[in-house]
Amino acid sequence: MQLSAVSFDRFNALADQEAQERIVAAKARLGARAVLLCHHYQRADVYRHADITGDSLKLSRLASQTAAEYIVFCGVHFMAEVADILSRPEQIAILPDMAAGCSMADMASRAKVERCWRELAAVLDPDQHVTPVTYINSAADLKAFCGEHGGIVCTSSNAPKILQWSFAQRGKVLFFPDQHLGRWSGHQMGIPMDEMVIWNPDLELGGLTRAQIEKAKIILWHGFCSVHQMFQPRQIERFRAQYPDGMVISHPECSFEICRNSDYVGSTETILKTVKAGAPGTRWLVGTELNLVDRLAQEVKAEGKVVQFMADTICMCSTMQRIDPQHLAWCLENLADGRVVNRITVPAHEAALAKIALERMLSAS
Ligand code: 13P
Ligand code: SF4
Repeated sequence: MQLSAVSFDRFNALADQEAQERIVAAKARLGARAVLLCHHYQRADVYRHADITGDSLKLSRLASQTAAEYIVFCGVHFMAEVADILSRPEQIAILPDMAAGCSMADMASRAKVERCWRELAAVLDPDQHVTPVTYINSAADLKAFCGEHGGIVCTSSNAPKILQWSFAQRGKVLFFPDQHLGRWSGHQMGIPMDEMVIWNPDLELGGLTRAQIEKAKIILWHGFCSVHQMFQPRQIERFRAQYPDGMVISHPECSFEICRNSDYVGSTETILKTVKAGAPGTRWLVGTELNLVDRLAQEVKAEGKVVQFMADTICMCSTMQRIDPQHLAWCLENLADGRVVNRITVPAHEAALAKIALERMLSAS
């Protein structure tokens, strides 16, 4: 029988140092029964406790392979959902703070995507002509929609490959929720800009004409990441003027202009690997979340490499930031005492369909 959980209120006021000590103690008590997966944007005071770190693709692969009873996901809600879907039924996925969502994922809902699918049917039969592709940054019910309609999931590290798979199934792609990842990946495949159109879910027929839909190769959902939209071309221009030998690397959630003006574009894991493999003494401007950039700057400093953050203002993933040492201590102590808190459970029917779309991705990438 599950014991009733100790309320978070008792942990909220913990001093940081005490929270750190309690995390270490609870982790030691749990041993191999719990694995702590941390996304690269996680704050330093949580990231230091990670058993495994990675980008979304790496973490979803590892979530499907771990043997631990508890998968404690220090990331955001959709990541813990993926862990629940891909893990074995007896494993339990935990998100230390339920409020750690993703604002981009919230920009596409199942109801709006279904409406889009119905409206597209006025122009063509979408189940014959359109592969739905959802970025992993989306709710499980959208992954289920893709599983149900011959579609697939992609991440920032495999999107062009997934588009290739998608075009091998049907002539067009509906890509949601991130327009920027879709546009950049389509551009990399050589798709002209006028064959990538924006679907605005608040307008009838997405604000498009029938002719635009008929011509389009990719229909891009009008979604974006609030963190990555802060990066501006003038920040790259300024850097290049000051450091002509410097290198620019960005995440594909950045706007097309940022990606086009970067020397490298890649997932969080790719950004880390590329800068770490760079020659000693090189200077880098990095367009992605601040926690990752700060940590990377520290790690490569000893080799004389300089890593700079692209934006003029602080831009963190404020939702991932909600997973703090207090929440982590609270959930680990409860688990160590046999009480499951903040379990993420995707309903079985939805999970089965979402798993189809995720497995298509894992085998295609
Ligand atoms: P990665 O898959 O590159 O880690 O990206 C996840 C994400 O949410 C970036 O904003
Ligand atoms: Fe979502 Fe943007 Fe945060 Fe990534 S950085 S988890 S896309 S809000």
